[in-house]
Amino acid sequence: MKIKSSQSNSSKLQSLLDEADRLKKQIHQETLNQQELEQKYFSKNGLFTLISKQITKLPANQKPQAGKVINHLKQDLLNYIEELSAHPHDPLTQQAKIDLTLPGKKPIVGHLHPISQAINEISGIFEKIGFVRVRYPEVDWDWYAFTSLNMPSDHPARDEWETFFVDQPPHHKKGKMVLTPHTSNGQVREMERVKTPPIRMINIARCYRRQQDVTHTQMFHQFEGLVIDKGINIQHLKGTIDHFAREFYGPNAKSRIRPFHFKFTEPSFEVDFSCHICNGTGYLSDPNNPKQKTKCRFCKSGWHEVGGAGMVHPNVLKAGDIDPNQYTGFAFGWGIERTYTLKEGLNIDDIRLLYSSKLNFLQQF
Ligand code: PHE
Repeated sequence: MKIKSSQSNSSKLQSLLDEADRLKKQIHQETLNQQELEQKYFSKNGLFTLISKQITKLPANQKPQAGKVINHLKQDLLNYIEELSAHPHDPLTQQAKIDLTLPGKKPIVGHLHPISQAINEISGIFEKIGFVRVRYPEVDWDWYAFTSLNMPSDHPARDEWETFFVDQPPHHKKGKMVLTPHTSNGQVREMERVKTPPIRMINIARCYRRQQDVTHTQMFHQFEGLVIDKGINIQHLKGTIDHFAREFYGPNAKSRIRPFHFKFTEPSFEVDFSCHICNGTGYLSDPNNPKQKTKCRFCKSGWHEVGGAGMVHPNVLKAGDIDPNQYTGFAFGWGIERTYTLKEGLNIDDIRLLYSSKLNFLQQF
């Protein structure tokens, strides 16, 4: 018994003719070279070979017509391939395939981490006014981190530094080992290195404290300034802070110092910079209704606190073997993450993101 074909004979012929027509158009859209086209159309399973085989399935009376069409098709395809060897494709004219108006693909180029960029910028600002960039150990003795800074071992002020202690036998004179909770450990180390003032140090290092939330990471960076010479006073401190504010935040930035308490400076201050969002006013005006003012939610009444500062305590100078009757000095220490995230336009509300390795966040900087 013969199995009835699902296609009638006349529609078989028609689909063969349609197919031939389609193939003739298709070859003009190809971007392959001559050899690849021969392979695609005329190899054992090539597109033309498959069509031409279908003739055998047609009834005898339809074969001549189909044969003619197939022969024409073969000639057209071969002509086209032949022509291509004389005039290869010009990729720029392949407009159907290449859309020159599409945006290009950017190659991925790495860059410095935003905190490294900030460190470079901050060092540059201070180096230009004669500071020397130094680095001191990030795992240090209690003596440099606390005791030499006028903080006896049982002093409660130490609690503020949330220190990580290293499980090592203590040094017979310098005490326990700590992960440096601030860059102030560089103060007495710098006095030991330079021996005779003038000292103009900028110490930038990683610091560690037992705290973690949107504004704190357990590892962070500080930069510490220390200037010691004859006749150094608070005006020099304020002038240096103002200079930094203008260089780092822009010509309109202002700074202010407020009385505070540190054991290693006397007098001591907290340092604030004016808020770039409300321009130090503490209020934002509604662009649609300039008379309507709302409280700036980014700062405390127009100011951001960045860290501490003060005049070096005489006991600290003595610990560094410098005579407090001859020399005076100032010091300041600020967090780099904090200082950097206040830069105009950054608005980073969770500093933990800086250390999250999230590329789509970091690539923005
Ligand atoms: N080391 C202090 C802190 O981490 C900051 C500071 C540095 C204060 C230098 C005064 C002088 O909070």
